[in-house]
Amino acid sequence: MLLHIPQLLTTDELTAIRSALAQANWEDGRNTAGHQAVKVKHNDQLSEEHPLARELGDVVLKALARSSLFTAAALPLKVFPPLFNRYQGGGHFGMHIDTAVRLTRLPPHRVRTDLSATLFLAAPEEYDGGELAVEDHYGSHHVKLPAGDLILYPASSLHEVRPVTRGARLAAFFWVQSMVREDARRSQLYEMDRAIQQLTADHPGHPALLKLTGVYHNLLRQWAEL
Ligand code: NI
Repeated sequence: MLLHIPQLLTTDELTAIRSALAQANWEDGRNTAGHQAVKVKHNDQLSEEHPLARELGDVVLKALARSSLFTAAALPLKVFPPLFNRYQGGGHFGMHIDTAVRLTRLPPHRVRTDLSATLFLAAPEEYDGGELAVEDHYGSHHVKLPAGDLILYPASSLHEVRPVTRGARLAAFFWVQSMVREDARRSQLYEMDRAIQQLTADHPGHPALLKLTGVYHNLLRQWAEL
């Protein structure tokens, strides 16, 4: 499931992150690429240890924590500390699948990458190209969102960032280990959660809501790994 979460960041958060990144010391993205990805990765990024990445990453984590849409869709157990990257002057990241398990040093723990996330930090009109292309059973999806919007997609998908031919594409990216590993099960829970929310709004107090909510939690209880 590809899920677009509009306006994850407030305008103030976006402005603060943008002005901090304008002063940042960027590094070659190949420093953190695995031996397969290093051949196809051409961008700049802030390393995990970079104090600015930590500070701005915390702003993103706080925004995720208040998003009920993110929680319902990702059912997050662990979130890898957000990193930041920049593509410009033809920069791109060719087709790849993300590493399955990532080690973070802050503090040391492993994160299984069930979901990948890109938070767009530049407006689409600021750059040409730079679409995130994600392949699934239904074909290739090209994603280029307003600044402050997030896309969540299964980390098991082949994906690429198309070359940026004008301007600069700024983004935060991170991975989520979900309580529910399988994308199909997570998608079912998400659909059920949304339907329950809608029924709660339209028919508050309907007795069937009690049962449906119970089914949701009992499925989550069966499938959740903690
Ligand atoms: Ni990737």
